[in-house]
Amino acid sequence: MSHAEDHQGTRRDFLYYATAGAGVVVTGAAVWPLVNQMNPSADVLALASIRVDVSGVEPGTQLTVLWQGKPVFIRARTEEEIAQARAVDVSALPDQGAENANAADGADASDENRALTEDGVWLVQMGVCTHLGCVPLGEQGDFGGWFCPCHGSHYDTAGRIRKGPAPRNLPIPLASFADETTIQLG
Ligand code: FES
Repeated sequence: MSHAEDHQGTRRDFLYYATAGAGVVVTGAAVWPLVNQMNPSADVLALASIRVDVSGVEPGTQLTVLWQGKPVFIRARTEEEIAQARAVDVSALPDQGAENANAADGADASDENRALTEDGVWLVQMGVCTHLGCVPLGEQGDFGGWFCPCHGSHYDTAGRIRKGPAPRNLPIPLASFADETTIQLG
């Protein structure tokens, strides 16, 4: 591969990342140092938990933050996105596990087992495609959720894999509301 091609590849990867985060506002001093460092040092990587101010995240938008060196999507879903996710028959899904660090062992991939809040509004998941690790794009693909352009994986509005080579649903990290407008990761 020539230098020029190599450079293009790098640039394209960066654009995917930038697009994934476009249209969102990153707020909160605790988050900024992570976002500011593309190559987090060992002490940043070791941070077990961070707190994210989600007061500015309106329904239908998402915030992308870096946590332990990986992007995390924090989305406030619309009524329609929730209804779509809840209408799906779990037995028809390629990955029927919740893939949720907060859920009980053996929990299935129902939307109720993946959403952070009972009303279904908040969905927090790793922004890392389970195929080979690209960052999927929001509000795209055949199921209106996320689409990974690297090899064409389509995720639904609950972050569950529906079509393409990715084997698993987008993993959900330990997350909780620390107060009304703050989500803690880890
Ligand atoms: S890395 Fe996402 S489809 Fe291959």
